[in-house]
Amino acid sequence: MGLNVMSEKSIKFAYWVSNLSGGQVVSDIEQATGWSTEYNIALAQTAERVGFEYALTATRFLGGYKADGQHESVILTSALLQATKKLRVIAAVLPGIWPPALLAKLATTADHLSQGRWAVNVVSGWFKEEFNALGEPWLEHDERYRRSEEFIRVLKGLWSDAPFTFKGDFYRINALAYKPQPVQRPHPEIFQGGNSKAARQMAARVSDWYFMNGGSLEVLKAQIDEVSAEAAKHSRKLKFAVNAFVIARDTEAEARAVQEDIVRLADPEAIAGFANAVKQAGLATDDKLGMWAQSRQQDLVQPNDGFKTGLIGTREQIADRIVQLRAIGIDLVLVGVLNYDWELAHFGEKIIPLVRDRENATVSGANQPSDAELDGVAV
Ligand SMILES: Cc1cc2nc3c(=O)[nH]c(=O)nc-3n(C[C@H](O)[C@H](O)[C@H](O)COP(=O)(O)O)c2cc1C
Repeated sequence: MGLNVMSEKSIKFAYWVSNLSGGQVVSDIEQATGWSTEYNIALAQTAERVGFEYALTATRFLGGYKADGQHESVILTSALLQATKKLRVIAAVLPGIWPPALLAKLATTADHLSQGRWAVNVVSGWFKEEFNALGEPWLEHDERYRRSEEFIRVLKGLWSDAPFTFKGDFYRINALAYKPQPVQRPHPEIFQGGNSKAARQMAARVSDWYFMNGGSLEVLKAQIDEVSAEAAKHSRKLKFAVNAFVIARDTEAEARAVQEDIVRLADPEAIAGFANAVKQAGLATDDKLGMWAQSRQQDLVQPNDGFKTGLIGTREQIADRIVQLRAIGIDLVLVGVLNYDWELAHFGEKIIPLVRDRENATVSGANQPSDAELDGVAV
């Protein structure tokens, strides 16, 4: 085991900011997880200390499905950036609620305040009632993606020096040149959450990062291949991130028992409501390829299919699985846990070093691990 050196090839880690009440599972299981602003500031400082590179906020304006209280993502992102030194914080935003010109200006200031650590996650939405409650029109699925793509094009246009004009179906900008420009060049990183066909095509054309819901290696790899091929048609290359709900315990049996408890104590009414609401996403499309189209009730207990990524077991099993994720092309793992009070630090202190050991062993050994090696990775 040598010195742990991070390289461009090293997989990166993000965590879900805990800005919605109720944690990361729709379950009545007891959780040691807070969601206050103070709690989140302390959590960001811990996450940065233990090796997380990114933090992802969620955007929500309306309660439901165990998220009855919510802190706003863009303002909270700015606060977390102020309280940290290296962490990159991703603000989730919904086009349709945020005008892109306003966001581009806010983001530039936040990028200056943080010396270039602000990022955005453009999410196209699934929660019709939320839009209804805010009095905003709810567009049909693929139209939401058309709007999101225009939204990103406007952000990029306003994050470039020249006066920018845009005549779209959703947004119009007239010879506007923002000064200053963001610290990050060419622009702050643009993530997107959304996996349907429309989402894949949008990612290929305009996003820097493609966030996937949890899934098996096969399902994730198929998506990576498809979106990469699509991006290549536009001479672009994307990075890929996947959601995972991590349960690390001393034995696999203990970890599985925790998962079973989470599912057993799930709130059936909330899950049924959520299952119904997300029909506005992947199931709303003809090909049924989007997120949640293949999710069963027990998967939906973790709303972003985080159980499916398979980071449940011992620390070593989890590290091995992360190496496999890296091998299929995952650049970043988005981590959610049950007990933020201790599990996020535990992940950083105990599991990230195991991953770095494995990465170093791979770098100093063969150029590329074979599938057989990856199946049996052990240090
Ligand atoms: C990592 C990730 C984070 C997301 N965060 C949010 C969020 O904060 N708020 C929200 O309304 N939707 C969020 N979504 C859901 C998207 O808005 C979208 O409804 C979902 O990805 C379904 O997209 P699809 O119809 O293209 O499959 C997120 C999705 C992913 C993958």
